[in-house]
Amino acid sequence: MKNKMNANKALWEKGDFTRLAETMRESGTALVAKLGITKGQEVLDLGCGDGTTAIPAARLGANVQGVDIARNLVEAGNARVKAEGLTNITFREGDAINLEGIEDQSFDVVVSIFGAMFAPQPFDVAKEMFRVTRPGGKIVMGNWIPGDPTLVAQILKVSSAYTPAPPEGFVSPMLWGVENNVTERFVAAGASQENISFERETFTFRTPVPPAAFLETFRKYYGPTMNAFEAAEKNGKEADLHQELANLFESQNQSPDKNATSIPATFLKVTVRR
Ligand SMILES: C[S@@+](CC[C@H](N)C(=O)[O-])C[C@H]1O[C@@H](n2cnc3c(N)ncnc32)[C@H](O)[C@@H]1O
Repeated sequence: MKNKMNANKALWEKGDFTRLAETMRESGTALVAKLGITKGQEVLDLGCGDGTTAIPAARLGANVQGVDIARNLVEAGNARVKAEGLTNITFREGDAINLEGIEDQSFDVVVSIFGAMFAPQPFDVAKEMFRVTRPGGKIVMGNWIPGDPTLVAQILKVSSAYTPAPPEGFVSPMLWGVENNVTERFVAAGASQENISFERETFTFRTPVPPAAFLETFRKYYGPTMNAFEAAEKNGKEADLHQELANLFESQNQSPDKNATSIPATFLKVTVRR
């Protein structure tokens, strides 16, 4: 069927992730600075959003292709590229489970920061990322970790507790934060186990508004949280959900300024050398 609804796409087009991305720019730039990207390299950013990591990679002189399933985020990314006058980066729509149109072994670096982890069919995602990476190149993923006590893992956990159960066969995106699962997926894609490594790193969300206002940004613009509030409203549990998240945001805030938010969140950084 031509226009079959794609729930994965609908989730990310639902809100406006750019509103969250604005609070993640510093960490995105810092992460890219450590990837060893050099001028003229070919870089793919998968699930690139509006370019939190893709644009810093282009500023380093790489030729960057950003691919994202959400049309609104691709448009927002291309608008940022135009505003900055960059000519070595483009964004386009695409799905991490099937990178059709992208040739085998065409990228030196394939990056996916909290992006491809949200695609269904994780074995296909690993296969595609590995396929388009050239021998000698690498894949770098940033994935939230299930059960981790920091912000995003907890938002996703709380949100899912208020959202209707996913369809049968749904694989939790959070399994991308479990080393054994990640290894299994990349080995199935053709990687050698000794070329897969893991580190725990931190992304810090920074915004000049208090945590309560930052929570409102999630509520209004972040698909998974929007869905949780919609479901909670139907069951009369909206106040409970709000209280749980408000406590979380308040307790995680490390900004000394009460009117600002600075929240560090731990993630699993996966590196696969091809
Ligand atoms: C949490 S955002 C992260 C965006 C960006 N990497 C960043 O760090 O700001 C998740 C992104 O993954 C994208 N995404 C989700 N599923 C995808 C899929 N199957 N293929 C490509 N992109 C996908 C979403 O549209 C969204 O832009």
